[in-house]
Amino acid sequence: MLDVAVLISGSGTNLQALIDACADDDFPARIVLVISNNPGVKGLERAEKAGIPTKVINHRDYDSRESFDEQIHEALKESGAKLICLAGFMRILDARFVNRWRNRMLNIHPSLLPSFKGLHTQERALEAGVRFTGCTVHFVNPELDDGPIITQAVIAIDPDDDPDTLAAKVLEKEHIIYPQALKLVAEGRVRVVGNKVTIQGADYSDEDIINPKP
Ligand code: GRF
Repeated sequence: MLDVAVLISGSGTNLQALIDACADDDFPARIVLVISNNPGVKGLERAEKAGIPTKVINHRDYDSRESFDEQIHEALKESGAKLICLAGFMRILDARFVNRWRNRMLNIHPSLLPSFKGLHTQERALEAGVRFTGCTVHFVNPELDDGPIITQAVIAIDPDDDPDTLAAKVLEKEHIIYPQALKLVAEGRVRVVGNKVTIQGADYSDEDIINPKP
């Protein structure tokens, strides 16, 4: 059983997908702590409802990124978490923190990385006129939205899509691939070789990984 901490900043629908997956007795991971940098967010409620310990570490209370990150690191150590899942966590973590958790920290991003790193991904995808977009679960490197890719899901863009409809379609896929990626990692099937991931002996076909069914 892999002990996981989830870092959030807001609504926490991805957190909910992970909570739901972990509720299955056969799932190889469990969430031992949820940390939010924002107080009073819906994601904290979701964790409390599931009986998961929560902590608010408000970045506004710290005078440097380093001291904020240090506080998070201490809370994680105390929780016994062996892996971090970033799930809509809107703070950039400094390189020292990221390197301490290298290959032990996952992130979900609402685009097909390496395209459209950063914010406003759906607006930018629509502006660029791409026909397909999607979402990516990856290990976190010190660079923003960068690092070895574990899973991706693709969606076709409709001519009628606006940023909101597109975001909703992508989010639906996020909720499928994040638990899948966590499962693969928790089962020890994911190896990082250089900047690439290889997945060993998984019961998934490439098609399942790229275009997952719920
Ligand atoms: C998701 O789109 C995720 O990809 C991005 O932030 C959003 C978080 O949504 N990193 P939620 O808080 O999980 O609902």
